[in-house]
Amino acid sequence: MNEKQTILKINNLHAEYVNPQNKEEKTPILHGINIEIKEGEIHAIMGPNGSGKSTLSSVIMGHPHYNVTEGEILFFSEKENKLVDILSMPAFERARLGLFLSFQYPAAVPGLSVSHFLRSVLKTMRNQDIPLKEFRKEISDKMQELKMDPEFARRYLNDGFSGGEKKRMEILQMSLIQPKMAILDEIDSGLDIDALKIVSEGINNLVDDKKSYLLITHYKRLLDYVKADNVHVLAKGKIIKQGGYDLIDALEEKGYDDIIKEAG
Ligand SMILES: Nc1ncnc2c1ncn2[C@@H]1O[C@H](COP(=O)(O)OP(=O)(O)OP(=O)(O)O)[C@@H](O)[C@H]1O
Ligand SMILES: [Mg+2]
Repeated sequence: MNEKQTILKINNLHAEYVNPQNKEEKTPILHGINIEIKEGEIHAIMGPNGSGKSTLSSVIMGHPHYNVTEGEILFFSEKENKLVDILSMPAFERARLGLFLSFQYPAAVPGLSVSHFLRSVLKTMRNQDIPLKEFRKEISDKMQELKMDPEFARRYLNDGFSGGEKKRMEILQMSLIQPKMAILDEIDSGLDIDALKIVSEGINNLVDDKKSYLLITHYKRLLDYVKADNVHVLAKGKIIKQGGYDLIDALEEKGYDDIIKEAG
């Protein structure tokens, strides 16, 4: 049997936040993260508020406000058929390699319609124009799957969207792009019970042995729908514990304090 291909490899990653108003002001946040994700694997990151989960996802995606001070991030390039260093690439190049991030707090863009936005994203990703008729069919099929009102396509991106509607918007984007590796930052926050099911189904529909996920969540309920095979606990910018699905039960039972104490 063939060895599974590694998709994302993070080695000894240290990163800081750089205040864009005063570039001298730097706050170290990540202190030596190691994660390896292979194709088809679903990983979860859990950890207390402020431990660095969103920062890690922003750094992987190449957000310009964060600076990597040590370590590396490698991603599998299909074209080169090997892991490549992505740290010097801008976010859109990382996206073209197959990396996708859904934001914890998606930004509203008044004036830009959902349909316009998605069409231009797909154009960039596929590097070719998509005929309007084809695009309309694609988007309306996906919206139906996610039980989204077709009216959404005409609304301005995330403008006045409820918390749950924003999250569905992120999944819609993901299901159109079909990324190789999706990082979903608290995709379950603010979702009602039915929406959680719909969003989880949306994720599960995209799970296959080639696609990988990094799910950031505070709750076991998402991971009951989308089963994670690997769980990482992040605290104060470090992975303090790694394990399988069982670790989630231990976390729910004991809480972070005990796990952090145990880890020393
Ligand atoms: N843009 C920023 N400006 C100022 N501080 C930041 C910024 N980004 C991250 N930090 C700081 O880095 C730490 C980690 O924040 P981060 O958002 O990564 O935490 P998190 O684990 O995602 O938390 P939560 O569970 O609340 O979403 C926090 O102390 C936060 O204040
Ligand atoms: Mg966060």
